[in-house]
Amino acid sequence: MELIEVPAGLAGVAVTTTSVGDVLGDEGLYHYRGRSAVALATSAGFEEVAALVLDASGESAIGDGTLPDEVAELIGRVDLRSALSVLGAAIDRRPVTELDPGDRRAVAVRLISCFPALIASVHHGAVRAPRPELGHIANYLWMLTGSEDPDLSRALEVYCSLTIDHGFNSGTFAGRVVASTGADFGACVLGAYCALTGPRHGAVQSRVLDMLDEIAASGDAEAWMRQALAGRRRILGFGHAVYRVLDPRAPVLRELTARIAPERHAVAVQAEAAAATVLAGRRIAPNVDLYSPVLLEACGIPSGLFTATFAMARVVGWCAHILEQAAEPKVIRPGAYYVGPPPELG
Ligand code: ACO
Repeated sequence: MELIEVPAGLAGVAVTTTSVGDVLGDEGLYHYRGRSAVALATSAGFEEVAALVLDASGESAIGDGTLPDEVAELIGRVDLRSALSVLGAAIDRRPVTELDPGDRRAVAVRLISCFPALIASVHHGAVRAPRPELGHIANYLWMLTGSEDPDLSRALEVYCSLTIDHGFNSGTFAGRVVASTGADFGACVLGAYCALTGPRHGAVQSRVLDMLDEIAASGDAEAWMRQALAGRRRILGFGHAVYRVLDPRAPVLRELTARIAPERHAVAVQAEAAAATVLAGRRIAPNVDLYSPVLLEACGIPSGLFTATFAMARVVGWCAHILEQAAEPKVIRPGAYYVGPPPELG
């Protein structure tokens, strides 16, 4: 078969179609099924946004969030990745491609619903269960930190709604590749989660806080930045693979953190102003992760759980994409140019 050469990282290559949403990098916009993600996140609750993103069927995307017994028995002895693997297997091990659409959706809802209790339980080493009177995100905050502060809860909810989906990113693609093989739903979500844990994708937030500490200690954000660039360091929380203008999530989080974390917020604002000078003309603007760790820290979420918290929201988008992919007949199986020793033929 003739191979087609594509750009490194598949940048700019469309590998499928989707109705879940899209990122318009030059315009600085993204949407969920055609509706402004920023407008939804700032005006609606997480449950409403999740239902739209999952499949827009009008049915809820959130249901029973208590952990299955198989998972509860392991709490205190496993890390999040292992617990997620057991959760998927406990919910349904049948190939995702062989489930009827109703069962497939039900598995997605169960996985999404269990994420908050899974993270909180693994973190505390003791099983946590959601309270029925609290919303999905308020439950997460309460199970994790004990807080029921409505301002923190709403700030976290906006952040989670903003990050529920974001185009055809690496984690989403990974989840769809696993789904195309017909592996079970939990395996698809686990694949997406593992991709997210890389520092080039979702795991940069705690390092942003370290950077803000350094900038605050230096007393001169612009000088700190010039020195960092001279040392060939990247300025964390800036730049994006798709956005060439301001990431539209950044100003929403900037506004939220002004109220709940004024000190950290002030340093991030200084960093933003310094970068506007130091990186001028390079089309490198603040991304979601300049202010998101400030918000998460203010909510009392330990930095070691920033990526897990991101995953707790993003699992909705992953599930939406896995549902789409599971209905496709073709396995995703690209090629590669072989560059090793010549093959022994015959
Ligand atoms: N600081 C300094 N220079 C940068 C930055 C940055 N934050 N981002 C990009 N550049 C420069 C690169 O050095 C490169 O310069 P060169 O052409 O002179 O070598 C040029 O811009 C292009 O860089 P790429 O890595 O090819 O651009 P890409 O668009 O693929 O990068 C990325 C995107 C990885 C996010 C990058 O901007 C980066 O490393 N940012 C800092 C880390 C970060 O904030 N990550 C979170 C991203 S948001 C998210 O994924 C949820």
